[in-house]
Amino acid sequence: MPCQSSDELKALVIEAKKYTKDGKVADYIPALGKANPKDLSIAIHYPDGPCISAGDIERKITLQSISKVISLALVLMDRGSDYVFDYVGMEPTGDPFNSIAKLETMIPAKPLNPMINAGALVVTHMIKGKSIEERFQRLVSFIRELTNDPTVNYCEEVARSEFETAHLNRALCYFLKQHKIIDEDVEQLLDLYTKQCAIEMNCLDLAKIGVVFAMDGVDPVSRRQIMPPDIARICKTFMVTCGMYNASGEFAIKIGIPAKSGVSGGIMGAVPGRFGIGIFGPALDEKGNSIAGIKLLELLSAKHSLSMF
Ligand code: DON
Repeated sequence: MPCQSSDELKALVIEAKKYTKDGKVADYIPALGKANPKDLSIAIHYPDGPCISAGDIERKITLQSISKVISLALVLMDRGSDYVFDYVGMEPTGDPFNSIAKLETMIPAKPLNPMINAGALVVTHMIKGKSIEERFQRLVSFIRELTNDPTVNYCEEVARSEFETAHLNRALCYFLKQHKIIDEDVEQLLDLYTKQCAIEMNCLDLAKIGVVFAMDGVDPVSRRQIMPPDIARICKTFMVTCGMYNASGEFAIKIGIPAKSGVSGGIMGAVPGRFGIGIFGPALDEKGNSIAGIKLLELLSAKHSLSMF
């Protein structure tokens, strides 16, 4: 569906863009450091059109942690929720996304939720398939179905850049392996996880994924039920409680919609029953969320009473 540019969204982007100067592009994954911190764009996908946007919505961004909510949906369909939650918990941590601290103090040592890196690595470990390639292709196929975009793929440069520098994620994997939460080769799992995080798309595709979650798993374009409503519900609940990491509480109070961020500066939002949102603004706050993206959502939520609470 073509996306129309909207004067209202353009004005909100101009207002929120001022905040980009207070943020910093993520560079712990070196390839992400090349992003322009001044960028800010948004697309909104309604269930039955039109789609509206502002900014350079053609620009591709890697999903990073936004992929965690999608791999969770796939794994819940693959294995069922009882199995999945035997290995990963349902509670927010209040800690940074890559923290190892609670793994050591929790008994059993399973990660507290699937949105922190430790939990997401366990989820990626659970994607079914005979090989890394098959597991990755299953995830990509699912994302192509969600976006209706058969060209979605991953960025090799970003995947390689993260794989070469993911020492903290390696540490998390070895800890999880020692405690028998995962039982595969760590380098193989990291190969799959870093490719997952490097899957790239534009804001419009991101908004399209958001609208599927917003409509309880139904693709409003094809009218197909892409995931069961119960799985969409679980994913949206995690987006509210853990989607913005240790800023999720403040985000719920100030904005009040299910959303998931990534260190590339993407945010995928799902306004229940109403629309999906895709945002790209690579300048991040100190918690790893898009600083101007959050401001933009705050303005939008206040103006259109989007909070679900
Ligand atoms: O594992 C990592 O560190 C990255 N691939 C993803 C982290 C991320 O996006 C956290 N988001 N705010």
